[in-house]
Amino acid sequence: MRKNIVAGNWKMNCDLSQTQQLISELKTGLVKEFNCELMIAPSFPFLYQAFNDTLETPIEVVAQNVCEAEKGAYTGEVSIPMLQSVGIKTVIIGHSERRDTYGETDELLASKTKAALDNGLRVIFCCGEHLEQRKSGEHVATVTEQIKKALFNLNKDEMEQVVIAYEPVWAIGTGETASPEQAQDMHAEIRAALRSQFGDEVAQHTSILYGGSVKPANAAEIFTQPDVDGGLVGGASLDAQSFLQIADAF
Ligand code: PGA
Repeated sequence: MRKNIVAGNWKMNCDLSQTQQLISELKTGLVKEFNCELMIAPSFPFLYQAFNDTLETPIEVVAQNVCEAEKGAYTGEVSIPMLQSVGIKTVIIGHSERRDTYGETDELLASKTKAALDNGLRVIFCCGEHLEQRKSGEHVATVTEQIKKALFNLNKDEMEQVVIAYEPVWAIGTGETASPEQAQDMHAEIRAALRSQFGDEVAQHTSILYGGSVKPANAAEIFTQPDVDGGLVGGASLDAQSFLQIADAF
């Protein structure tokens, strides 16, 4: 069956010592087994350190972004082989901050996803609508389109290596969360789209995470929805205790 996952997206927060401090607090808090996979996504310069600091723990260190090209004249970018050389096995692709602030298009995200999968990385693919699209009732069409454009060119084996994170943009960092029903409805739509393209088995195996102001206070309610398999957590993942409380919601 599909896996439960709680992933902390640290975004552009924490310098080296803060990264190490937060990891150390997480390790101290790992006093029990959680019913989910744990991932953290620190910033690029600290991935190697974070990878080493989490060896022999259930925490997987993942990257927040990656370049679609293998090497060469791509100033400021980080390649798949570079990530792999520091132990990274999973990368977040298509976060709304990458789409909106850095202009990453569906086409670019499709090529990043394909390149990552071709090279053996697992992908957490983000999708989600803006508030206007939700208000005008276009949210399902928007998210389905994002998924079609980036993922429908994959084969079944590739799709098995993809986790989807549904993150309504209006709920990211705003303190406003999608209701459990809104999350469930969208996750069911996403799973139905996967079923139509890849068949029932792939649809049932794909973990679909919810993201957008997940907190210890709302995690359990969201995670009990049948099509919600975990969370991509921003702000609340910067506090070890609240991140572990969210993981404990499973
Ligand atoms: P948030 O961020 O939990 O701070 O809303 C979620 C995300 O952007 O992944």
